[in-house]
Amino acid sequence: MSSRTVIRGGLVITASDEIHADVLIEDGRVAALAASGTPAAEAFTAESVIDATGKYVIPGGVDPHTHMEMPFGGTYAADTFETGTRAAAWGGTTTIVDFAIQTVGQSLREGLDAWHAKAEGNCAIDYGFHMIVSDVNQETLKEMDLLVEEGVTSFKQFMAYPGVFYSDDGQILRAMQRSAENGGLIMMHAENGIAIDVLVEQALARGETDPRYHGEVRKALLEAEATHRAIRLAQVAGAPLYVVHVSAIEAVAELARARDEGLPVFGETCPQYLFLSTDNLAEPDFEGAKYVCSTPLRPKEHQAALWRGLRTNDLQVVSTDHCPFCFVGQKELGRGDFSKIPNGMPGVENRMDLLHQAVVDGHISRRRWIEIACATPARMFGMYPKKGTIAPGADADVVIYDPQAEQVMSAETHHMNVDYSAYEGRRTTGRVETVLSRGEVVINQREYTGHAGHGVYTPRSTCQYLN
Ligand code: URP
Ligand code: ZN
Ligand code: ZN
Ligand code: ZN
Repeated sequence: MSSRTVIRGGLVITASDEIHADVLIEDGRVAALAASGTPAAEAFTAESVIDATGKYVIPGGVDPHTHMEMPFGGTYAADTFETGTRAAAWGGTTTIVDFAIQTVGQSLREGLDAWHAKAEGNCAIDYGFHMIVSDVNQETLKEMDLLVEEGVTSFKQFMAYPGVFYSDDGQILRAMQRSAENGGLIMMHAENGIAIDVLVEQALARGETDPRYHGEVRKALLEAEATHRAIRLAQVAGAPLYVVHVSAIEAVAELARARDEGLPVFGETCPQYLFLSTDNLAEPDFEGAKYVCSTPLRPKEHQAALWRGLRTNDLQVVSTDHCPFCFVGQKELGRGDFSKIPNGMPGVENRMDLLHQAVVDGHISRRRWIEIACATPARMFGMYPKKGTIAPGADADVVIYDPQAEQVMSAETHHMNVDYSAYEGRRTTGRVETVLSRGEVVINQREYTGHAGHGVYTPRSTCQYLN
């Protein structure tokens, strides 16, 4: 039996178009669009009708950078796949790509199987996986080919965190050479971790233990240096490169230069770098620990370069790097030693709203909002047009967004499993009203109607952004 829903009268916004249209959904997919009020739209019939008059109708958000239940810094990220994907749905995100981890000594397969076991049956929205490669050896390189074939088409490497996830330049080059052959995309955490560890040791020896020193030792120049090195290694390997969580002016400049040279080099930034700064890291009474993540928050001056990069397409994506640790009991592990504060911040629920605020504030256009938060992440990671747009044949992952509603972000009202909001008290205009995931209403007029296990694993093709 087929199930049909029609969304009537909204402004449908995709990365390429804005049109007042009715959207017909059949069996979990978008079946047709027709200009509202025309005979073609009137002919849409369905058991269920959603009135979107005065609202935006946008593709569900695609967040290509989350860390649910991630083991890190001696603890685990506080959102499980269940709580984290539910919070994502509340925030208008209908697909996440999380990072499965290979630890040193493990195979990629073992790491990936462990992440499938955590996620399966627990997610409220659809999900895919990237693979963190921590141990580049002959076996791992062979396994990369197999993973690409089965839909894990991107691999994160770390130039930071020596002794944990770190890869040296030779290991990075080998993985890049492999990805040049098998079509995988290397995602780089670009910070010079070896140099940073020296600066950490020296800072602690001087008695500089507060959270703000996290920002001081993880220097913008060391992000830029690593970004430059990653770009040139990728160039030597003949591979594309995607740099994650870009935060520094100097790193954006490296990406811009490489792109001007015609290299297939891409970058993402995150809301925390666009809206927060070292002022937050300097908050008294250890409150700054709430804002410890890597790359670190930068002085406010860096924000303009990030917005500019998003407008000029030197940066293509805004993800969250959602990796929440509670203040009580988790961030507190680093009292007296900033290097022991678990790195990461919550945000999976806030991204679509913060970026809509950027539309209101004039940083980006409405279509660019959808491009950087939905369409390009889907294209970059091989899920388009199933995800990231509203078009016939696409999954009916659709958000009814009220552009006039006002809200105040707060830990009191958010749905992430974390005891603080990085945006506590921030007023934003615009709010998610209703969310459909593959045609099923998972948020109905600000009430959760989804369920764990609705979300399914989404294997991905190789990067679709290259040509
Ligand atoms: O601080 C961060 N970003 N934590 C998550 C792990 C990573 O490096 O993305
Ligand atoms: Zn990282
Ligand atoms: Zn991350
Ligand atoms: Zn369901």
